[in-house]
Amino acid sequence: MRRNQLSDRMLACSTSRYSHHLRFAVPALAALCFGAGAAAQEAAPTFYADALPLFEKNCAACHQPDGPRVGGITAPMSLLDYTQARAWAPMIRNALVTGYMPPWGAHERHRGEFKDERYIDEAEKALLVAWVDGGALEGDPAQARRQDTAASSGTAMPESGWWIGKPDLEVQFEQPVEVADSVEDWQPTIQMPVPEDAHAEPKWIAKAELNPGGPWVHHIVSSHMGVGVPGRGPFTYPEGWGVLMPEDPFITVNMHYHKNPGEGTAVTDMTKAGFVFYDDGAVIDHVVETNLLPHNGWTIPAGDPNFKVTNTHEIEEDIFLLSMGPHMHYRGKAMRYEVEYPDGERETLLWVPDYDFNWQFLYEYEEPKFLPKGSVLHLSWWFDNSANNRFNPDPSAEVVYGPETTDEMANARIYFAPTTKRGIVVGDAIPQDVLDTAREEDQRRRASADLLVLGEDDLSWLQE
Ligand code: HEC
Repeated sequence: MRRNQLSDRMLACSTSRYSHHLRFAVPALAALCFGAGAAAQEAAPTFYADALPLFEKNCAACHQPDGPRVGGITAPMSLLDYTQARAWAPMIRNALVTGYMPPWGAHERHRGEFKDERYIDEAEKALLVAWVDGGALEGDPAQARRQDTAASSGTAMPESGWWIGKPDLEVQFEQPVEVADSVEDWQPTIQMPVPEDAHAEPKWIAKAELNPGGPWVHHIVSSHMGVGVPGRGPFTYPEGWGVLMPEDPFITVNMHYHKNPGEGTAVTDMTKAGFVFYDDGAVIDHVVETNLLPHNGWTIPAGDPNFKVTNTHEIEEDIFLLSMGPHMHYRGKAMRYEVEYPDGERETLLWVPDYDFNWQFLYEYEEPKFLPKGSVLHLSWWFDNSANNRFNPDPSAEVVYGPETTDEMANARIYFAPTTKRGIVVGDAIPQDVLDTAREEDQRRRASADLLVLGEDDLSWLQE
């Protein structure tokens, strides 16, 4: 177990008074740490003995040859390959030190709470940084101990081309959507026709996946599938949780395209959606509901580096909270969901200290969280409208709530369900209230299509 020994030593070294040399002089430091007997080259971390197992564990889920598309984007290199890893070494160091990779927004304090979380251990990070600083040495391929990459988080794209497995229903645009040269931001509402007779009666969605046509799809909103954005995989509801999809000739989606405009930048997009339904006889106890919890009415002053807005939302019946999805735009800096229980006790549900618009995660509880009636959500958003924010489109502008990426948003989407079990048997008659709600939701989205209203960044709630 050479790797473990080495990382233990790295730890021992990094707590020593030599630690500040670690980044610059690994071979020399290693010699110091390992004693005079160890030759410097042997002690310096190498790709095969040290870095590769850590790349496999922390990175290869995405950074593998023909890596998976995560909501439309693919990692730019394989880290299972020495030549590529070496070429990217300085970037790897930077991505690790800044916390940009592995991509994940929830603070370390939430470790263990959310599905598909991505944290890298400090000792592992230190070892990878040491590998880069030591010259990104190759080492001996015979020392590679291939781990089962797939085990690191289900990464091999299944043959069907869908993470959810072969869908029961697949839909796509009637024809490819032309995203013209001039487009920078464009948010059309588009219908995907459901193949004739493919969906003649309402069905319960167990899993749903949006398959964006490419990286220019910034995000997609659909009543049935939640939100498809970079960094977000398919929607898989817990056993016994579902969303009703009414029988319908169309699936309506609100697209958000974003790319650099200019000659030759036009693309055509063919986004698809796939659904897996519950089988007859399954029992739906929890009908999933969602709420965007948008908050507006504030103005971010020009140049303000740390502008905070807050909002509250009362929980009106006992619920299980399934997931949280903070949403801001380029000036978004940090976001927090707190709950105040009826007895006054407060708990932080989600703290995203370094919000990144490019990675819009949905934080899904491993175990849905019980929130009793009378609890109050306290929601806080922080914005950086200064020139130091490298994503800021215009630090000299005052900014208000609006749909363009140059405007801002302060949304705190939640998915939840009442705790009272419905006991709906799939295949039996669907309770009228559930049918009505599902149809209304769909109609609202459809109606808004005529107005060319804009999805998650949609302002239809303003008229309600
Ligand atoms: C969930 C998938 C995923 C995981 C896990 C992941 N990456 Fe990435 N990585 C990406 C994607 C997608 C990109 C390209 C988009 C971007 O740069 O934001 C990327 C980009 C990068 C870049 C280029 C950054 C830049 O500034 O251009 C580096 C370096 C990198 N990753 C290193 C790592 C390392 C090291 C790990 C593991 C510790 C890791 N990544 C884990 C998906 C992932």
